[in-house]
Amino acid sequence: MTAPQPPKFHQLTPRQRQDWIAQHTGLDRSALDAFTQGAGLTLEQADHMIENVAGLYALPVGIAQHFIVNGREVLVPMVIEEPSVVAGASYMAKLARAAGGFTTSTDAPEMIGQIQILDIADLPAARQRLLNHKTELLQEAAQFDPVLISRGGGPRDLEVRLIEESPIGPFLVLHLIYDVRDAMGANAVNTALERLSPRVESISGGRVHLRILSNLADRRLARAAVTIQLDQLAFGQFSAEEVRDGIIEAWAFAAADPYRAATHNKGIMNGVDAVVLATGNDWRAIEAGAHAYAARSGRYTSLSTWGKDAAGNLTGRLEMPLAVGIIGGATRVHPGAQAALKLMGVTTAADLAEIIVSVGLAQNLAALRALATEGIQRGHMALHARQIAIAAGAIGDQIDQVADQMVQEQNIRVERAQEILLQLEKKN
Ligand code: MEV
Repeated sequence: MTAPQPPKFHQLTPRQRQDWIAQHTGLDRSALDAFTQGAGLTLEQADHMIENVAGLYALPVGIAQHFIVNGREVLVPMVIEEPSVVAGASYMAKLARAAGGFTTSTDAPEMIGQIQILDIADLPAARQRLLNHKTELLQEAAQFDPVLISRGGGPRDLEVRLIEESPIGPFLVLHLIYDVRDAMGANAVNTALERLSPRVESISGGRVHLRILSNLADRRLARAAVTIQLDQLAFGQFSAEEVRDGIIEAWAFAAADPYRAATHNKGIMNGVDAVVLATGNDWRAIEAGAHAYAARSGRYTSLSTWGKDAAGNLTGRLEMPLAVGIIGGATRVHPGAQAALKLMGVTTAADLAEIIVSVGLAQNLAALRALATEGIQRGHMALHARQIAIAAGAIGDQIDQVADQMVQEQNIRVERAQEILLQLEKKN
Protein backbone atom coordinates (compact mmCIF):
# COMPACT_ATOMS: atom_id res chain seq x y z
CA MET A 1 0.00 0.00 0.00
CA THR A 2 1.51 3.36 -0.98
CA ALA A 3 0.01 6.04 1.22
CA PRO A 4 0.46 9.59 -0.06
CA GLN A 5 1.78 11.77 2.72
CA PRO A 6 -1.10 13.40 4.57
CA PRO A 7 -1.34 17.01 5.55
CA LYS A 8 0.12 17.71 8.96
CA PHE A 9 -1.63 15.08 11.05
CA HIS A 10 -1.16 17.05 14.25
CA GLN A 11 -3.31 19.88 12.88
CA LEU A 12 -6.32 17.63 12.33
CA THR A 13 -8.95 16.42 14.76
CA PRO A 14 -9.08 12.69 15.56
CA ARG A 15 -12.13 12.33 13.28
CA GLN A 16 -10.35 14.12 10.43
CA ARG A 17 -7.35 11.80 10.85
CA GLN A 18 -9.68 8.82 10.66
CA ASP A 19 -11.29 10.23 7.51
CA TRP A 20 -7.88 10.69 5.93
CA ILE A 21 -6.83 7.14 6.83
CA ALA A 22 -10.12 5.70 5.50
CA GLN A 23 -9.70 7.62 2.23
CA HIS A 24 -6.04 6.89 1.65
CA THR A 25 -5.40 3.40 2.95
CA GLY A 26 -8.44 1.50 1.82
CA LEU A 27 -9.17 0.60 5.44
CA ASP A 28 -12.93 0.61 5.88
CA ARG A 29 -14.65 2.87 8.37
CA SER A 30 -15.96 -0.04 10.44
CA ALA A 31 -12.37 -1.18 11.09
CA LEU A 32 -11.48 2.34 12.20
CA ASP A 33 -14.49 2.43 14.50
CA ALA A 34 -12.58 -0.15 16.51
CA PHE A 35 -10.25 2.71 17.45
CA THR A 36 -13.13 4.84 18.67
CA GLN A 37 -15.76 2.96 20.59
CA GLY A 38 -14.01 1.83 23.77
CA ALA A 39 -11.19 0.57 21.53
CA GLY A 40 -13.75 -1.63 19.82
CA LEU A 41 -13.85 -4.09 22.68
CA THR A 42 -17.22 -4.90 24.23
CA LEU A 43 -17.70 -5.88 27.83
CA GLU A 44 -18.89 -9.30 26.65
CA GLN A 45 -15.74 -9.86 24.59
CA ALA A 46 -13.59 -8.70 27.49
CA ASP A 47 -15.39 -11.13 29.78
CA HIS A 48 -14.01 -13.98 27.68
CA MET A 49 -10.45 -12.65 27.75
CA ILE A 50 -9.66 -12.65 31.46
CA GLU A 51 -11.36 -13.45 34.76
CA ASN A 52 -13.67 -11.36 36.94
CA VAL A 53 -14.14 -8.66 34.30
CA ALA A 54 -15.86 -5.58 35.70
CA GLY A 55 -15.04 -2.99 33.03
CA LEU A 56 -12.84 -1.75 30.22
CA TYR A 57 -9.80 0.52 30.28
CA ALA A 58 -8.99 2.82 27.35
CA LEU A 59 -5.72 4.39 26.18
CA PRO A 60 -5.07 6.71 23.24
CA VAL A 61 -4.20 5.23 19.83
CA GLY A 62 -1.81 7.58 18.01
CA ILE A 63 -0.78 7.03 14.40
CA ALA A 64 2.94 7.36 13.63
CA GLN A 65 3.50 8.71 10.15
CA HIS A 66 6.33 8.75 7.61
CA PHE A 67 7.59 5.21 8.18
CA ILE A 68 9.12 3.37 5.26
CA VAL A 69 10.01 -0.22 6.22
CA ASN A 70 11.81 -2.25 3.57
CA GLY A 71 10.58 0.16 0.89
CA ARG A 72 6.94 0.02 2.02
CA GLU A 73 5.02 3.00 3.40
CA VAL A 74 3.31 2.15 6.64
CA LEU A 75 1.12 4.03 9.11
CA VAL A 76 1.80 2.67 12.59
CA PRO A 77 -0.82 2.59 15.36
CA MET A 78 0.71 3.17 18.79
CA VAL A 79 -1.13 2.71 22.08
CA ILE A 80 0.55 4.81 24.74
CA GLU A 81 -0.23 7.28 27.50
CA GLU A 82 3.03 9.27 27.24
CA PRO A 83 3.15 12.49 25.19
CA SER A 84 5.90 13.07 22.59
CA VAL A 85 6.36 9.37 21.77
CA VAL A 86 4.19 9.28 18.62
CA ALA A 87 5.50 12.67 17.47
CA GLY A 88 9.11 11.59 18.13
CA ALA A 89 8.78 8.35 16.15
CA SER A 90 7.04 10.13 13.26
CA TYR A 91 9.64 12.86 13.06
CA MET A 92 12.58 10.45 13.07
CA ALA A 93 10.85 8.31 10.43
CA LYS A 94 10.61 11.48 8.36
CA LEU A 95 14.35 12.19 8.72
CA ALA A 96 15.04 8.57 7.70
CA ARG A 97 13.11 8.89 4.44
CA ALA A 98 15.92 10.71 2.60
CA ALA A 99 18.05 7.54 2.81
CA GLY A 100 15.16 5.14 2.13
CA GLY A 101 13.76 4.50 5.62
CA PHE A 102 14.32 1.35 7.67
CA THR A 103 15.85 -1.92 6.46
CA THR A 104 14.89 -4.92 8.53
CA SER A 105 15.18 -8.67 8.88
CA THR A 106 13.94 -11.40 11.20
CA ASP A 107 15.06 -14.91 12.13
CA ALA A 108 12.76 -17.90 11.75
CA PRO A 109 9.98 -17.74 14.38
CA GLU A 110 11.66 -20.30 16.63
CA MET A 111 10.77 -20.27 20.32
CA ILE A 112 12.55 -22.13 23.10
CA GLY A 113 10.58 -24.34 25.49
CA GLN A 114 12.30 -25.48 28.68
CA ILE A 115 11.94 -28.68 30.69
CA GLN A 116 13.71 -28.78 34.06
CA ILE A 117 14.83 -32.32 34.99
CA LEU A 118 15.79 -33.01 38.62
CA ASP A 119 16.89 -35.97 40.77
CA ILE A 120 19.45 -37.41 38.35
CA ALA A 121 22.55 -39.07 39.75
CA ASP A 122 24.66 -39.17 36.57
CA LEU A 123 23.84 -35.95 34.73
CA PRO A 124 26.24 -36.35 31.73
CA ALA A 125 24.93 -39.90 31.08
CA ALA A 126 21.27 -38.80 31.27
CA ARG A 127 22.04 -35.87 28.99
CA GLN A 128 23.60 -38.21 26.44
CA ARG A 129 20.61 -40.61 26.60
CA LEU A 130 18.22 -37.72 25.85
CA LEU A 131 20.37 -36.58 22.94
CA ASN A 132 20.47 -40.16 21.60
CA HIS A 133 16.64 -40.05 21.52
CA LYS A 134 16.49 -36.65 19.85
CA THR A 135 14.87 -37.85 16.60
CA GLU A 136 12.23 -39.85 18.45
CA LEU A 137 11.44 -36.96 20.83
CA LEU A 138 11.13 -34.48 17.97
CA GLN A 139 8.86 -36.86 16.07
CA GLU A 140 6.68 -37.22 19.16
CA ALA A 141 6.55 -33.44 19.67
CA ALA A 142 5.38 -33.06 16.07
CA GLN A 143 2.19 -35.01 16.85
CA PHE A 144 0.70 -32.41 19.15
CA ASP A 145 -0.25 -29.53 16.86
CA PRO A 146 -1.29 -30.72 13.37
CA VAL A 147 -2.52 -27.24 12.40
CA LEU A 148 0.87 -25.65 13.09
CA ILE A 149 2.62 -28.51 11.29
CA SER A 150 0.33 -28.02 8.25
CA ARG A 151 1.38 -24.35 8.22
CA GLY A 152 5.05 -25.33 8.08
CA GLY A 153 5.83 -24.96 11.79
CA GLY A 154 6.69 -27.53 14.45
CA PRO A 155 9.65 -28.83 16.46
CA ARG A 156 13.03 -28.08 14.93
CA ASP A 157 15.70 -29.11 17.39
CA LEU A 158 16.39 -30.30 20.88
CA GLU A 159 19.26 -29.33 23.18
CA VAL A 160 20.12 -30.52 26.67
CA ARG A 161 21.97 -28.15 28.99
CA LEU A 162 23.70 -29.02 32.20
CA ILE A 163 23.17 -26.32 34.81
CA GLU A 164 26.30 -26.82 36.94
CA GLU A 165 25.50 -24.42 39.75
CA SER A 166 22.17 -23.53 41.32
CA PRO A 167 20.80 -23.10 44.86
CA ILE A 168 19.62 -26.75 44.73
CA GLY A 169 22.73 -28.14 43.04
CA PRO A 170 23.22 -29.23 39.41
CA PHE A 171 20.39 -30.37 37.10
CA LEU A 172 19.49 -30.79 33.43
CA VAL A 173 17.41 -28.49 31.23
CA LEU A 174 16.01 -29.70 27.94
CA HIS A 175 15.36 -27.05 25.29
CA LEU A 176 12.76 -27.80 22.66
CA ILE A 177 13.19 -25.46 19.69
CA TYR A 178 9.80 -24.95 18.11
CA ASP A 179 8.87 -23.00 14.99
CA VAL A 180 5.57 -21.28 15.81
CA ARG A 181 5.06 -19.49 12.44
CA ASP A 182 2.67 -16.54 12.91
CA ALA A 183 1.79 -17.20 16.54
CA MET A 184 3.47 -15.76 19.60
CA GLY A 185 3.88 -19.42 20.46
CA ALA A 186 3.37 -19.78 24.20
CA ASN A 187 0.38 -22.14 23.87
CA ALA A 188 1.90 -24.38 21.21
CA VAL A 189 5.21 -24.67 23.02
CA ASN A 190 3.78 -25.19 26.51
CA THR A 191 1.43 -27.90 25.21
CA ALA A 192 4.30 -29.70 23.47
CA LEU A 193 6.46 -29.53 26.61
CA GLU A 194 3.76 -30.93 28.88
CA ARG A 195 2.95 -33.77 26.51
CA LEU A 196 6.61 -34.65 25.97
CA SER A 197 7.46 -34.75 29.66
CA PRO A 198 6.58 -38.40 30.50
CA ARG A 199 8.89 -39.63 27.73
CA VAL A 200 11.63 -37.24 28.89
CA GLU A 201 11.30 -38.67 32.41
CA SER A 202 11.52 -42.26 31.25
CA ILE A 203 14.56 -41.62 29.04
CA SER A 204 16.43 -39.47 31.56
CA GLY A 205 15.46 -41.42 34.67
CA GLY A 206 14.89 -38.06 36.37
CA ARG A 207 11.90 -36.07 37.59
CA VAL A 208 10.47 -33.43 35.27
CA HIS A 209 9.67 -30.25 37.17
CA LEU A 210 8.96 -27.02 35.22
CA ARG A 211 7.74 -27.12 31.63
CA ILE A 212 7.48 -23.62 30.22
CA LEU A 213 8.35 -21.35 27.31
CA SER A 214 11.40 -19.08 27.68
CA ASN A 215 10.81 -15.38 27.06
CA LEU A 216 14.46 -14.98 26.14
CA ALA A 217 13.51 -15.62 22.51
CA ASP A 218 17.05 -15.18 21.23
CA ARG A 219 16.47 -17.42 18.22
CA ARG A 220 13.66 -15.11 17.09
CA LEU A 221 15.50 -11.82 16.71
CA ALA A 222 14.33 -8.83 14.68
CA ARG A 223 16.77 -6.27 13.34
CA ALA A 224 16.38 -2.76 11.94
CA ALA A 225 19.01 -0.54 10.41
CA VAL A 226 18.68 3.11 9.47
CA THR A 227 20.83 5.79 7.90
CA ILE A 228 20.08 9.44 8.58
CA GLN A 229 21.72 11.63 5.98
CA LEU A 230 23.94 14.21 7.58
CA ASP A 231 22.01 17.12 6.02
CA GLN A 232 18.84 15.97 7.83
CA LEU A 233 20.35 16.43 11.26
CA ALA A 234 20.98 20.17 11.62
CA PHE A 235 18.33 22.16 13.45
CA GLY A 236 18.09 25.39 15.45
CA GLN A 237 21.56 26.43 16.51
CA PHE A 238 22.89 22.84 16.20
CA SER A 239 25.05 21.83 13.25
CA ALA A 240 24.49 18.43 11.64
CA GLU A 241 27.89 17.20 12.86
CA GLU A 242 27.14 18.31 16.41
CA VAL A 243 23.83 16.47 16.42
CA ARG A 244 25.34 13.31 14.87
CA ASP A 245 28.33 13.22 17.23
CA GLY A 246 26.12 14.08 20.20
CA ILE A 247 23.89 11.08 19.40
CA ILE A 248 26.92 8.78 19.13
CA GLU A 249 28.28 10.08 22.45
CA ALA A 250 24.88 9.54 24.07
CA TRP A 251 24.81 5.95 22.79
CA ALA A 252 28.36 5.36 24.10
CA PHE A 253 27.11 6.29 27.58
CA ALA A 254 24.43 3.58 27.38
CA ALA A 255 26.86 1.07 25.86
CA ALA A 256 29.20 1.51 28.84
CA ASP A 257 26.88 2.07 31.81
CA PRO A 258 23.92 -0.09 32.91
CA TYR A 259 22.31 2.84 34.76
CA ARG A 260 22.08 4.77 31.51
CA ALA A 261 21.39 1.63 29.41
CA ALA A 262 18.20 0.93 31.38
CA THR A 263 16.82 4.38 30.47
CA HIS A 264 18.14 4.22 26.90
CA ASN A 265 16.40 0.87 26.41
CA LYS A 266 13.27 2.23 28.08
CA GLY A 267 13.17 4.80 25.29
CA ILE A 268 13.35 1.99 22.71
CA MET A 269 10.56 0.16 24.53
CA ASN A 270 8.39 3.30 24.42
CA GLY A 271 8.07 2.63 20.70
CA VAL A 272 8.15 -1.17 20.82
CA ASP A 273 5.53 -1.61 23.55
CA ALA A 274 3.15 0.90 21.98
CA VAL A 275 2.85 -1.19 18.81
CA VAL A 276 2.93 -4.48 20.73
CA LEU A 277 0.00 -3.20 22.78
CA ALA A 278 -1.87 -1.85 19.74
CA THR A 279 -1.76 -5.33 18.20
CA GLY A 280 -2.93 -7.19 21.33
CA ASN A 281 0.43 -8.83 21.94
CA ASP A 282 2.03 -9.71 25.29
CA TRP A 283 4.20 -6.70 26.12
CA ARG A 284 5.51 -8.25 29.37
CA ALA A 285 6.97 -11.10 27.33
CA ILE A 286 8.60 -8.62 24.96
CA GLU A 287 9.96 -6.53 27.85
CA ALA A 288 11.38 -9.62 29.60
CA GLY A 289 13.03 -10.82 26.40
CA ALA A 290 14.46 -7.40 25.55
CA HIS A 291 16.11 -6.81 28.89
CA ALA A 292 17.43 -10.36 29.23
CA TYR A 293 18.91 -10.01 25.73
CA ALA A 294 20.46 -6.67 26.71
CA ALA A 295 22.28 -8.52 29.53
CA ARG A 296 23.42 -11.48 27.43
CA SER A 297 27.14 -10.67 27.74
CA GLY A 298 26.85 -10.74 31.52
CA ARG A 299 26.64 -6.95 31.68
CA TYR A 300 23.42 -5.06 30.87
CA THR A 301 23.97 -2.74 27.89
CA SER A 302 22.30 -0.83 25.06
CA LEU A 303 20.10 -2.78 22.65
CA SER A 304 20.94 -0.35 19.85
CA THR A 305 24.18 0.84 18.24
CA TRP A 306 24.87 4.25 16.69
CA GLY A 307 27.81 5.31 14.52
CA LYS A 308 28.63 7.03 11.23
CA ASP A 309 29.33 5.76 7.73
CA ALA A 310 32.16 6.73 5.38
CA ALA A 311 30.12 9.69 4.07
CA GLY A 312 29.59 11.01 7.59
CA ASN A 313 25.90 10.03 7.79
CA LEU A 314 24.47 8.80 11.09
CA THR A 315 23.83 5.05 11.17
CA GLY A 316 21.76 3.11 13.69
CA ARG A 317 20.98 -0.54 14.34
CA LEU A 318 18.66 -2.30 16.73
CA GLU A 319 18.53 -6.06 17.34
CA MET A 320 16.22 -7.65 19.90
CA PRO A 321 13.99 -10.68 20.46
CA LEU A 322 10.47 -10.02 19.16
CA ALA A 323 8.08 -12.86 19.86
CA VAL A 324 4.89 -11.33 18.50
CA GLY A 325 1.98 -13.07 16.81
CA ILE A 326 -0.83 -12.10 14.47
CA ILE A 327 -3.04 -15.10 15.26
CA GLY A 328 -4.38 -16.37 18.55
CA GLY A 329 -4.76 -14.73 21.93
CA ALA A 330 -5.95 -11.16 22.29
CA THR A 331 -4.82 -10.35 18.75
CA ARG A 332 -7.62 -12.51 17.37
CA VAL A 333 -10.32 -11.41 19.82
CA HIS A 334 -9.66 -7.68 20.14
CA PRO A 335 -11.24 -5.58 17.33
CA GLY A 336 -8.72 -2.77 17.94
CA ALA A 337 -5.83 -5.20 17.46
CA GLN A 338 -7.39 -6.46 14.24
CA ALA A 339 -7.79 -2.89 12.98
CA ALA A 340 -4.15 -2.17 13.88
CA LEU A 341 -2.91 -5.13 11.83
CA LYS A 342 -5.11 -4.10 8.90
CA LEU A 343 -3.89 -0.51 9.06
CA MET A 344 -0.28 -1.68 8.83
CA GLY A 345 -1.10 -4.18 6.09
CA VAL A 346 0.64 -6.87 8.12
CA THR A 347 0.18 -10.47 6.91
CA THR A 348 2.87 -12.33 8.86
CA ALA A 349 4.29 -12.15 12.38
CA ALA A 350 7.66 -11.34 10.80
CA ASP A 351 6.14 -8.27 9.04
CA LEU A 352 4.85 -7.08 12.38
CA ALA A 353 8.16 -7.66 14.18
CA GLU A 354 9.99 -5.72 11.47
CA ILE A 355 7.70 -2.70 11.87
CA ILE A 356 8.01 -2.86 15.66
CA VAL A 357 11.80 -2.99 15.66
CA SER A 358 11.87 -0.02 13.25
CA VAL A 359 9.63 2.00 15.56
CA GLY A 360 11.91 1.07 18.50
CA LEU A 361 14.94 2.37 16.63
CA ALA A 362 13.13 5.57 15.58
CA GLN A 363 12.03 6.14 19.16
CA ASN A 364 15.56 5.66 20.45
CA LEU A 365 16.81 8.20 17.91
CA ALA A 366 14.15 10.71 18.92
CA ALA A 367 15.19 10.48 22.57
CA LEU A 368 18.95 10.63 21.87
CA ARG A 369 18.59 13.55 19.46
CA ALA A 370 16.62 15.54 22.02
CA LEU A 371 18.85 14.59 24.96
CA ALA A 372 22.04 15.35 23.01
CA THR A 373 20.81 18.81 21.99
CA GLU A 374 18.07 20.86 23.63
CA GLY A 375 17.02 18.29 26.28
CA ILE A 376 13.67 16.54 26.34
CA GLN A 377 11.73 19.10 28.33
CA ARG A 378 11.41 21.51 25.39
CA GLY A 379 9.54 18.92 23.30
CA HIS A 380 7.30 18.10 26.24
CA MET A 381 6.66 21.82 26.76
CA ALA A 382 5.72 22.29 23.10
CA LEU A 383 3.14 19.52 23.38
CA HIS A 384 1.89 20.81 26.68
CA ALA A 385 1.56 24.28 25.11
CA ARG A 386 -0.51 22.85 22.26
CA GLN A 387 -2.84 21.19 24.76
CA ILE A 388 -3.22 24.50 26.62
CA ALA A 389 -3.84 26.36 23.33
CA ILE A 390 -6.60 23.89 22.43
CA ALA A 391 -8.09 24.21 25.93
CA ALA A 392 -8.18 27.99 25.40
CA GLY A 393 -10.21 27.49 22.21
CA ALA A 394 -7.53 27.62 19.48
CA ILE A 395 -8.34 25.70 16.29
CA GLY A 396 -6.45 24.86 13.08
CA ASP A 397 -3.38 27.05 12.47
CA GLN A 398 -4.09 29.01 15.65
CA ILE A 399 -2.98 26.04 17.76
CA ASP A 400 0.65 26.19 16.61
CA GLN A 401 0.71 30.00 16.61
CA VAL A 402 -0.54 30.25 20.17
CA ALA A 403 1.62 27.34 21.38
CA ASP A 404 4.80 28.67 19.71
CA GLN A 405 4.36 32.10 21.28
CA MET A 406 3.75 30.65 24.76
CA VAL A 407 6.85 28.44 24.46
CA GLN A 408 8.94 31.43 23.32
CA GLU A 409 7.68 33.46 26.24
CA GLN A 410 8.07 30.45 28.56
CA ASN A 411 4.63 31.31 29.85
CA ILE A 412 2.32 28.36 29.25
CA ARG A 413 -1.02 29.13 30.86
CA VAL A 414 -4.62 29.06 29.64
CA GLU A 415 -5.06 32.77 30.46
CA ARG A 416 -2.04 33.69 28.32
CA ALA A 417 -3.30 31.42 25.51
CA GLN A 418 -6.64 33.26 25.58
CA GLU A 419 -4.89 36.65 25.36
CA ILE A 420 -2.78 35.53 22.38
CA LEU A 421 -5.88 34.11 20.71
CA LEU A 422 -7.68 37.45 21.10
CA GLN A 423 -4.71 39.28 19.57
CA LEU A 424 -4.64 36.83 16.63
CA GLU A 425 -8.37 37.21 16.06
CA LYS A 426 -8.09 41.03 16.10
CA LYS A 427 -5.30 40.86 13.50
CA ASN A 428 -7.38 38.77 11.07
C1 MEV B 1 11.32 8.73 28.47
O1 MEV B 1 10.11 8.03 28.42
C2 MEV B 1 12.37 8.03 27.63
C3 MEV B 1 13.78 8.63 27.70
O2 MEV B 1 14.19 8.73 29.05
C4 MEV B 1 14.68 7.72 26.90
C5 MEV B 1 16.15 8.05 27.03
O3 MEV B 1 16.58 8.64 28.02
O4 MEV B 1 16.90 7.66 26.09
C6 MEV B 1 13.79 10.03 27.14
